[in-house]
Amino acid sequence: MNMCGIVGYVGSKGAKTVVFEGLKTLEYRGYDSAGIAVNNSKITVVKDVGFVEKLEPHLSQLPASGNAIGHTRWATHGVPNQVNAHPHTDMKVNVVAVHNGIIENFMLLKQNLKDGGVEFKSDTDTEVIPQLLSIELNEAEPFTAFKKVIEKLEGSYAILVMIKGDHRIFFARNHSPLVIGKGEDGRGENLIASDVVAFLKHTKQAIFVKDGDVGYIDGKNIHIEVDNQKVGREITEIEWSAKDAMKDGYPHFMLKEIYEQPDAVKNTLLDARIDEFAHKLDDGLEIVAAGTSYHAGLAFQYASNMKCRLIISSEFSALYRGGSVLAISQSGETADTLQAVRAAEKRGEKIYSIVNVNGSTLTRISDQVVHTHAGPEIGVAATKTFTTQLAVLYAVDAALKGNPKPTFDLAPAIALDGDMKALAKELTKTSELFYIGRGPSAATAREGALKLKELAYLHAEAYEGGELKHGPLALIEDGVPIIAICPNDTHKKKMMGNIEEVKARGAKVFVFGEQGDKELEHLSDKFYGLPKIKEEYSPMTYVIPLQLLAYHTAVLLGKNPDKPRNLAKSVTVE
Ligand code: F6R
Repeated sequence: MNMCGIVGYVGSKGAKTVVFEGLKTLEYRGYDSAGIAVNNSKITVVKDVGFVEKLEPHLSQLPASGNAIGHTRWATHGVPNQVNAHPHTDMKVNVVAVHNGIIENFMLLKQNLKDGGVEFKSDTDTEVIPQLLSIELNEAEPFTAFKKVIEKLEGSYAILVMIKGDHRIFFARNHSPLVIGKGEDGRGENLIASDVVAFLKHTKQAIFVKDGDVGYIDGKNIHIEVDNQKVGREITEIEWSAKDAMKDGYPHFMLKEIYEQPDAVKNTLLDARIDEFAHKLDDGLEIVAAGTSYHAGLAFQYASNMKCRLIISSEFSALYRGGSVLAISQSGETADTLQAVRAAEKRGEKIYSIVNVNGSTLTRISDQVVHTHAGPEIGVAATKTFTTQLAVLYAVDAALKGNPKPTFDLAPAIALDGDMKALAKELTKTSELFYIGRGPSAATAREGALKLKELAYLHAEAYEGGELKHGPLALIEDGVPIIAICPNDTHKKKMMGNIEEVKARGAKVFVFGEQGDKELEHLSDKFYGLPKIKEEYSPMTYVIPLQLLAYHTAVLLGKNPDKPRNLAKSVTVE
């Protein structure tokens, strides 16, 4: 359950509602089941299968006051059903826990408990936590007992626990994100969650919990220990506002985030640290990233003169030959990327990173970080974090070439929204299609196809225009849609040849090119124009209509673009 979201609240605002609302903002982390527990004179738990909203009718069963913890789940151990949903309790319902991560030694712990007569309700690894704690509580006071349990766990975890009759929420972290929201003084409240977005409405003062930390919060105190010694931690003032984490009138977060791109890119380019960052990067750099972030790396490779190599995070151990590493990640929590970075770190190599989420694990293990100033991205599909990654990478490239920082006008690309809605209608009639591009547009094509696959569940493949003839051309027949990315660059003539090839086999070709390009317009079944842009920067604008196209196709097919099936925003399993 590594991609789950957890929230805890101590205070007087109505804990169940604060936690319920917090869970809704975390739903991008996982959404196959959810639950909330309230602790006042006794522990009461509600849970259900499906989205967090499904909990709403159950909330009346929870007491109005007390502390609360909640969870939204992305199943790994045990199918997504009500029994396996968190929170989990011990047999006597004296202890209740939520957990994000994987307890690797749970089988052994569970067997020992069972041998001692403990009965389990769920198939989860998490249930061992409250069951173990319930036993330890016979011997020790609550915090000592909690620490004893944590010592027994192997694996990754962010854990919140409440104990009947105790006014605290206990927590522990190892390789799963956890952050404390320090309540405003005088209100007697504190919060804790997987991500700051869960508590932005209540406080912007965050304390990032570190691996190996154990502690507790209550209305007045934030207590953190490392190796049984109390430690102090700095408070980070979060720049994001609660409004950033709301839909603000848009039907989906994804659409809002697509529209936020002009500002997000502008804000990112204002970061004065990019120049210094660029000059630290040395030749021989290994760039590591996954998914959409990998596509940003791909676009950079086409733009840059650097001697660097791009590696998919999960392939890093097989391909890495040493040297400093540049990791690109929205979340800063992607397990594949972190594992790659840790391997390089162990060899004493320098780690650079481009990250959106402040305080994330990647930012802490990097020697130098540049942030993409995209604000929180709630839609599962990366949009504004992709273009802001491109902004940083293009600014790095400009700095290294001694060119001025680039600027971008993204409004004309967003203005294609209506056209993309119309094109989406065409795509709903198909089950497979191809995206093609050459040079930087090969990166754009891959990102466009990924968006359509993950959101509309259509089989979209991306190819470099020149690769079609080496195999995929056999798949082209009457009516197959082709999305061709063909800016007015040095690859245009060859791309036009590729468009001719697919047309000759009956494909229906939708072309994205430079506004007013008559010859391309003539060649296309439908042509969409974008303003002139420097060759190496074209993914920045050309990707935007493709994001819109995937969005509208998903919506027309009745899919929720914010929560595609089987996926989660932060992929914290390898
Ligand atoms: C696709 C998408 C994913 C992520 C990938 C890496 O829309 O969002 O492919 O790009 O899981 O995530 P980060 O950038 O957080 O490391």
